[in-house]
Amino acid sequence: MRALPIPRRRLLRALAAAALPGPAGAAAHGPPRVRIRLSHVVARRTPKGLALEHFRTRLQALSGGEIEVEIHPNSLLYGDEDEMQALQLGAIDMVAPSLSKFGPIGFPEFELFDLPFLFDETGQVHRAMQGAVGQELLALLARQQLVGLGYLDNGFKHMSANRPLRAPEDFAGLRMRIQSSRVIAHQMRALDARPVVLSFGETRRALAERVVDGTENPISNFWTQRMHEVQSDLSLTAHGYLGYAIVVHQRFWEYLAPADRELVGQALAEALKWGNAIARRENDEALAALRASGATRIHALDAVQRQRLRHATRAVYEGLEARIGPEWLRRMRGAAAALV
Ligand code: LMR
Repeated sequence: MRALPIPRRRLLRALAAAALPGPAGAAAHGPPRVRIRLSHVVARRTPKGLALEHFRTRLQALSGGEIEVEIHPNSLLYGDEDEMQALQLGAIDMVAPSLSKFGPIGFPEFELFDLPFLFDETGQVHRAMQGAVGQELLALLARQQLVGLGYLDNGFKHMSANRPLRAPEDFAGLRMRIQSSRVIAHQMRALDARPVVLSFGETRRALAERVVDGTENPISNFWTQRMHEVQSDLSLTAHGYLGYAIVVHQRFWEYLAPADRELVGQALAEALKWGNAIARRENDEALAALRASGATRIHALDAVQRQRLRHATRAVYEGLEARIGPEWLRRMRGAAAALV
């Protein structure tokens, strides 16, 4: 893994968390016998927040209370910039970063999911994830002693700013906060905007202080981070997909007793299925709440407008192809298009 410097405050927190009773230390204190420390960056009332809570509840039931999942949401323990390192250090046991965050740590192939206008609906994404391409992507994580346990949906991303973003020209000169994905950076540059990589936890403040002018995210994230208070316009571009991979370190995974590993796998499989079933509804409800609040103007795009954005961002495909080779892209397109 590429070594990123950990700010001192974060490092101290990591070391303090590492001292918490984990799987090894818990036994002496009676039940729970195993504790899984899980960190994520979004709010509780989001597809990811709810699915991970479902995982905790199911695992508690399946293990008769012997396996506890301790969830730290909202970047409270670790943010985007250090959660992977915390996982590598053993300061945390499980993370669920967005697929866009795997590129900078050595897995550019995950940026396939970031390609603008690759998917039109979630069924296509699921076919890709559940098929050979999705499973091979998870298997790549072994290169860094990571184990990918499955995928989870959020949904389609939309663009926000303090003006409508319906045509390529509307993006000119805007500083757009993005996740740390080169594909998303290229997408913004193709629209003549300036991509600014910021961690999720810093995004709302950066928008409020006008450090950046706009961003992209599914509406559940936009709403629960109260970005509507600092963005006057949301354009329903549905230009890209945002989902997650659930990841643990091999050391932790192998440490678990085989029977516990099976329970974790079962609870997680159930939680991911449940999470994927409620993700769309959560985003729809966030959109309804956003409309009811009247805080942000919402702009629908027609097919011609989406086609113009698609056309303006087509060079992004060549950029990724040059980095990871044409085969991945050909297979991903094939998987997305395959009939069920
Ligand atoms: C973002 O950084 O915009 C998202 O990946 C946050 C998340 O985890 O949904």
